[in-house]
Amino acid sequence: MGDQPGDGAEQPFVAVRDACKVYDDGPRPVTALHHVDLEVPRGRFVSVIGPSGCGKSTLLRLVAGLEQPGSGEVRICGETPARATERKMIGFVPQTPALLPWLDVLGNVRVLEKVNRAARRRSAAAAPPGEQGRCDLAGDPVALLRRLGLGDVLHRRPGQLSGGMQQRTAIARAFALQPQVLLMDEPFSALDEFTREAAQLQLLDVWQELRTTVVFVTHSITEAVLLSDTVVVMAAGPGRVAGTVQVGLDRPRHSGLLDSAVLHEHEHRVRELLSDAWRAEARSAS
Ligand SMILES: Nc1ncnc2c1ncn2[C@@H]1O[C@H](COP(=O)(O)OP(=O)(O)OP(=O)(O)O)[C@@H](O)[C@H]1O
Ligand SMILES: [Mg+2]
Repeated sequence: MGDQPGDGAEQPFVAVRDACKVYDDGPRPVTALHHVDLEVPRGRFVSVIGPSGCGKSTLLRLVAGLEQPGSGEVRICGETPARATERKMIGFVPQTPALLPWLDVLGNVRVLEKVNRAARRRSAAAAPPGEQGRCDLAGDPVALLRRLGLGDVLHRRPGQLSGGMQQRTAIARAFALQPQVLLMDEPFSALDEFTREAAQLQLLDVWQELRTTVVFVTHSITEAVLLSDTVVVMAAGPGRVAGTVQVGLDRPRHSGLLDSAVLHEHEHRVRELLSDAWRAEARSAS
């Protein structure tokens, strides 16, 4: 996956190597991940797509250090996930946003400000030359919330927000922490199509400026292609990588792309990989 122009000898920022994960706490063991490799270069947006149960969330949890692989290894900038978590390098946006109900939108983003300040100093020191300025937006919660379309609801509490607003608040908070890598597990899956499209474009706008390394799980082919540099397609039974599609669309990306032939070509390639994977699963189950 590190084969895009300009990568050169760049080391993957997130590396999952030959990871296997079997859950054996049920009536029979489930192989959630079978020899999975994933490489994400610094500053790239990579989506993971695949049928339900193919191990997408398991893969994110391994990268986040929330679970250990049975075999294989995970490294974030050369560190173990445990060490990367200790150093606040990893941000996680789950499917259901975990906001503090007694704080307003701004309060939820500012709640970890002290951590933010330390993170900012660390990020600024760690950023490659020329990238230091990128921290400015993430260091300004109000600007960040405005860019995510939440400028009018800064003082509402989570209970007074729509699902889409809650999810964008959670995304703002994750960016505000200035993680080195941001993991998102289907953050837009509960939104209607138009709200989802708007949220995708706002996320693209913020990401374009911050260029955080992202691993994004989704079920939507269009969303994966629109947002990503690379789409990793997974298959189920056992959970494995079926193939990858490099998305050669120029950035910054805009809403006009949604109707473009070039986007549809990429969607078609992802869909083909998904249906091959689905047919293989159906054959092995019969
Ligand atoms: N803690 C667990 N204990 C036992 N089995 C688990 C556990 N977590 C996940 N699994 C199983 O591992 C497989 C992969 O689950 P995972 O949640 O990673 O899939 P997914 O691709 O994220 O699915 P979805 O798209 O529905 O979210 C599934 O068969 C699931 O039932
Ligand atoms: Mg999942």
